[in-house]
Parts: sequence; C-alpha cells; structure tokens
Amino acid sequence: MTMRKPLVAANWKMNGNAALAQDMLQTLAGHALPELDVLICPPATLLQPLAHSAHCLLGAQNLSQFSDGAYTGELSAALLSEAGVRYVLVGHSERRTLFGESDAVVLAKMEQAIAHGLIPVFCLGENLQQRQQEKTSEVLAKQLAAVYASHPEFIGKSVVAYEPVWAIGTGEAASPEQAQQAHAFIRQQLANYDAEAADSVRILYGGSVKAANAEELFRQADIDGGLVGGASLNADEFLKICQSAK
Ligand code: G3P
Repeated sequence: MTMRKPLVAANWKMNGNAALAQDMLQTLAGHALPELDVLICPPATLLQPLAHSAHCLLGAQNLSQFSDGAYTGELSAALLSEAGVRYVLVGHSERRTLFGESDAVVLAKMEQAIAHGLIPVFCLGENLQQRQQEKTSEVLAKQLAAVYASHPEFIGKSVVAYEPVWAIGTGEAASPEQAQQAHAFIRQQLANYDAEAADSVRILYGGSVKAANAEELFRQADIDGGLVGGASLNADEFLKICQSAK
C-alpha cells in the first residue's frame, strides 16, 4: 500500500481577517509539522498575506469555469496561480447547493484547475435524505463518475474530500466507521478508473472536524487528513487538528 502524506486543509469560507491570517502564520511557524501538508484556503482578499509561506500551502475556495474574458467577479485558474495559489476547492457542497453548480460545471472547473497546474480538491458527499434513504454509494459513485470517468488521469493530479453534507457546520461529524466506509468506497470507485492512482490519492474527511475527534478520524486506513471549516478559524484548535494527523 502506498504511504500517503497526510494533508490538513482549512476552509475559512467567507470568514477570517488579516489578524487571523497573521495568527495562523505565527502559530504554524512555532510548531514544525514536517510529517504532513498544511493547506489554508482563505477568502480571496486574504490570499496575499498567506502566499509563499514556508509553513503552509495556499488554496483557493473556488475558481471560474472559464479561462479568461468578460466574466465580472470571477477568478480564473491563471489569476489564482499568479497569486501563489497551488490548490483549489472544486465542487464544495455549498457551491453545488447555494450556487447551483452542476456536475458539468464541476467538471469544467476541474479541467481549468488542472490545465493551469493547480491541484484540485474535489469535494463530494451525500445529504441527509440520501443517507437516510441508503443512497450514499449511488450518490458518491455518480459524483465521481462525472469527473473521473472521462478523465481518469485527473485522479493522480487531485486531492479528494468526502464531506457528508449533513455533517457540515452541524457539530455532528460522521463516526470514524461511517467516514472510513465512505472513504473505502470512494477509493474503490477510483480504482475502477486507475488502480495505481487510486491507491496514492489522498482522501480527506470534512464535516465538523474538531480537535476532539480528529485523531480517531485520521487513524482510519483510508482517511488521509481533513478539510476543516469552523474549527480552522481558531489557530490553536487548527494546530491541534494538524498535530493529530502526524
Ligand atoms: O470545507 C470544509 C467545511 O465544509 C466543513 O465545515 O465547519 O463542518 O468543519 P465544518
């Protein structure tokens, strides 16, 4: 089995400020974490203070499906890359539900990210009704197929993030067993497209990750780190989560 370097990512969403950015950089600078990758995805206005840090990688929370042109308010992969961004969240459930991003739009964004040398963090997950109706596997398989059936070569260039929608922002994380089951399913689905890439791709868990639950989640065989929302807005809490991934 391939050894996968853990990755812990912070998704600040539309939160944070320059003081948090400085606090995060100082906290990470004071606690070396060579065993894992630490990724910060701030709002676009905070990309600059976090760019080119020796202590964390820089990610964007979204990108345009278009490469350039008259698209007011959009940020292209090329513009993000020029700002020092290396990773970009694609298909986050909030983009899919609140901003109507279809599987086709998610695919177009994945193509833009990879075409411009960014590493997409492909987000997928079922909602509460789908889990209660035992449709989780069907939903995850469809979301994965929408991108990787036509582009199996993207697996080796991606990070994947499983975020059960019912666990996002609720304080109710998936149990380690639930999360491991979903991650193992995702890895098996990806192996149907490219077995070698599926073994090495990092699959993150997201949805109410806290310092209190991170260690047990990250101990699971197919969980390679976390995608952290609310808890990443506190540098000390986020550091504890990162330390759980070592
Ligand atoms: O992208 C991570 C986010 O959706 C999880 O949010 O607050 O449940 O950790 P939270």
